[in-house]
Formats: sequence, C-alpha cells, structure tokens
Amino acid sequence: MTHEQTLRIAMNGITGRMGYRQHLLRSILPIRDAGGLTLPDGQKVQVEPILIGRNEAKLRDLAEKHKVDSWTTDLEGTIADPTVDIVFDASMTSLRPATLKQAIAAGKSIFTEKPTAETLPEAVELAKLADEAGITAGVVHDKLYLPGLVKLRRLVDEGFFGRILSLRGEFGYWVFEGEHQAAQRPSWNYRKEDGGGMTTDMFCHWNYVLEGIVGSVKSVNARAVTHIPERWDERGDRYEATADDASYGIFDLETPEGDEVVGQINSSWAVRVFRDELVEFQVDGTHGSAVAGLQKCVAQQRAHTPKPVWNPDLPVTESFRDQWLEVPANAELDNGFKLQWEEFLHDVINERPHRFGLLSAARGVQLAELGLQSSAERRTVDIPGITL
Ligand SMILES: NC(=O)c1ccc[n+]([C@@H]2O[C@H](COP(=O)([O-])OP(=O)(O)OC[C@H]3O[C@@H](n4cnc5c(N)ncnc54)[C@H](O)[C@@H]3O)[C@@H](O)[C@H]2O)c1
Repeated sequence: MTHEQTLRIAMNGITGRMGYRQHLLRSILPIRDAGGLTLPDGQKVQVEPILIGRNEAKLRDLAEKHKVDSWTTDLEGTIADPTVDIVFDASMTSLRPATLKQAIAAGKSIFTEKPTAETLPEAVELAKLADEAGITAGVVHDKLYLPGLVKLRRLVDEGFFGRILSLRGEFGYWVFEGEHQAAQRPSWNYRKEDGGGMTTDMFCHWNYVLEGIVGSVKSVNARAVTHIPERWDERGDRYEATADDASYGIFDLETPEGDEVVGQINSSWAVRVFRDELVEFQVDGTHGSAVAGLQKCVAQQRAHTPKPVWNPDLPVTESFRDQWLEVPANAELDNGFKLQWEEFLHDVINERPHRFGLLSAARGVQLAELGLQSSAERRTVDIPGITL
C-alpha cells in the first residue's frame, strides 16, 4: 500500500466488552486521535474504523459519542467492500471462524480476538487458509505486551534466572453469580453450548504466555471443574452453568536451549484475590526468581535469597515480600492491546506476516482442547506439533 493511504478497519463485535473497551477505546481511537500511525520516515497512516454489530441503536450511539463516521449491521457486505483493508473480530467465539473465512477469501488482512475457533480442526483450517492467501493475520496476544510480562521476558533475555526451573501462575477473581449482585462477565462465558468455559477462554492465553516467556508446551495435565453450577444472566434469569469455571493445569515445557521446565497455572472465576494483581506469574531459576503481574515485576537474586528455617512453633520473623526488588520499566509501556495493534498495522503496511498469527492461535486452541481432554480422561496428554 502507499503510505498516504488511510487504513479502513471493519470492527465486528464492537459493542462487546473487549471490542469496545480495549480495541476501540484504548487502541484504534487513540491511534486515530493522534493523527494515525507514525511510520519510520515520519509519515502518518490514518485509521478509519467502521463499527459493526447487530444493534443499530447501540452502534449509532457509539459512533456519535466517538465521532466515528461509519457504522453498519451488514457484516458480510462490509467484508466484501473493496475499500476495507482490515477485518477485525471481537464477537462471540462461536461466530468467529465464519467471519474470518469470509475475510480471508476477500483478501483482507485480519486481526482477531482469541480463541480463533472452538475446535482445533477449525483453527488449523483458518491458519491454512490465511497462509495460502498470503494475507497478514494477527491474533490478540495481549498479555505478552503488558508491562509486567515485558519486564519478565527481559529478565529471561538477560539470563537473570540462570537455568529456569518452574513457572507458576495464579489467575482469577470472584465472578458474582448474578442473583443478588450482577455478574461482571457475560453469561455466555458460563455456557458450554455458547463457547464458554475457563479452559477454552484462558488456555489459549496461557499457551502464548508460556511460549513467549519460557518455551513450547509439550504436555498438559488439567482439571477443569464447574464450581458454581447455577448462575443468573443479564436479564436476571437463572441458568445452568454448563461450562467449567475453573481450570487447574500442569504443563511440561521445553526452553529453546532444550531444558525442561515445569509450568503450573491455576485459573478460576471462583476464587477471592489475595495477590497484588489479578494475574501473577512466578518464575524460579537457579540464579534468581521473579514475580510479574499485569503491571509490576519484582525480582530476587541468588545473592539476596534469604535462608528461611522451618519452625511452625515460632511466628514469622522476616517479611518475605520486602526482600524483592522492583524491576524498572526503563521505557514508557503503553496499553498492551494498542501496542499490538500498532505492530500489526505496521505489518499490514509492509505486507509482512505478524509475529503472532493464526498458527500460534491454533496452538492455543489445541492446548485448551487437550486440557479438556486431559481433565475428562484424568491423564497427562502429550501435545503434538501442528503443521499446515
Ligand atoms: N484478549 C482477552 O484478554 C479477552 C478477554 C475476554 C474475552 N476475549 C474474547 O473476546 C471475544 C468477545 O468477548 P467479550 O467478553 O467482549 O464478550 P461480549 O459478550 O461482551 O461481546 C461479544 C460481542 O459479540 C456480539 N454478539 C453476541 N452474540 C451475538 C450473536 N448471536 N450474533 C452476533 N453478534 C453477537 C455482542 O453484541 C458483542 O458485541 C471472545 O471471543 C472472547 O474469547 C478476549
């Protein structure tokens, strides 16, 4: 494309939580309001969102509020529109493959929320189609762009940990049932038949987090459970929660150097937070350890490691949390979604692949699928490589 061009971005599912807050409000509108994306030569490429959804009134309100010229309920027609450069999807997961397939067939660049599909064959098919079409395809890998994880990755790159031994993650918070206090997440998340479920939702994130921080995932042993069997939906109606609302996973990992690392991540919508952030990852290595949340990262070197002695008869004599040092950002770290959007847009302009594409997304879907299989069969499941 020529640099003077404006990128027209068809944004589907923009009235939803993620589509509105993260992608429109925190990413595309700030890029637009800054006059567009700045290229290395100083030129600007403007972005022009087209809001797509089912509810005309909602779309019109959003468009007016944010001074967006284009909105429509015609998804298919917009994808087919030759003036549209990029198709973005943040709608319900179950509707995604059809939208993406249509966009790939129309030769559009695509950027999409995760998971790309509910089943592995569908996710692999999408990756294959995008590969054959030679389009630029990006899948949200937002966690890797978060300040906390950027700092954690930097520690890995600098060899801070020595040999990495383990990674443990804690994710989740209490999601209200909806009876007396409204639930703070959509009800479809708790219905299997609508594509909901903690394992499906989060293991696709954990796959790229594990790959992006430590290495590839070789096997999974998970326990997916439904702790809260009934909930109340957006209209206050009671429904059966058919999907898992917590998933406890153990992962065998392999670093690029061939070292084996044990990964363990607990994910739950039925847990109360006693952490500094809603997700935290701790990496322990022979030379040091670090704990990263969404924003913060603290580390402790081997030389500063205390020598606790187990004695249940005495009260704790030292403050373990105070023995960690904060890792500085040493840079301005913007919103993770916006950073990935900007990287993706540069890739589209340069007609090159995005580093987190549909194959990485398919590995995420695979981890979720095999995690559920592991849970159902109560065994460890090996993860075969995916080839297109
Ligand atoms: N990257 C992340 O951290 C993250 C976090 C949460 C959700 N997600 C993903 O984002 C996507 C959207 O999740 P959300 O939490 O924003 O959900 P949401 O329910 O708030 O939004 C879903 C959107 O899809 C639309 N929609 C719902 N049912 C539809 C139907 N039958 N036909 C057409 N459109 C329909 C809604 O109007 C809404 O715009 C999901 O795929 C989810 O997995 C990603």
